[in-house]
Amino acid sequence: MNAIELLKKDHETVKELLSRLEETTERAVQTRKKLISKIEQELKIHTALEEQIFYPAFRQAGSKDDAVLAIEAKEEHRAVEALVLPDIKQTSPSTLEFAGRVKVLKELLEHHIEEEENDMFPQARKLLGKRELEDLGQAMETLRKSLKQGEAKAA
Ligand SMILES: [Fe+2]
Ligand SMILES: [Fe+2]
Repeated sequence: MNAIELLKKDHETVKELLSRLEETTERAVQTRKKLISKIEQELKIHTALEEQIFYPAFRQAGSKDDAVLAIEAKEEHRAVEALVLPDIKQTSPSTLEFAGRVKVLKELLEHHIEEEENDMFPQARKLLGKRELEDLGQAMETLRKSLKQGEAKAA
């Protein structure tokens, strides 16, 4: 799978999990907890693939404007990881506040995904050849595997 297809597939997975989470009510405490931890896991791996492999290759091939795109995207990852997700995890799933915070997470991520898919990926297609996109995809598959193994060991 090439790098862009792989990242888009991850986006679909996360969007699907977010929609499922958004449909839950305060009574679905266990489901909410499970979905949040699944989303956190998916994002952790996805952002690692982007930040360690895809964004650096994109910056290397691109101009200053492209670097700015990648830097902004990384800041959005950081906001989700460092602020929004920890905040949700500290909120009881049986409250209305939980749903409000999930809504913010969903909007942030949808906006982020849209920018990647509409701005960064088309630009990456121009900057990186077919061959390099394939190679990056393969490197990301390998990193994903080793991150998952690390997770399994830590659990
Ligand atoms: Fe991203
Ligand atoms: Fe992404």
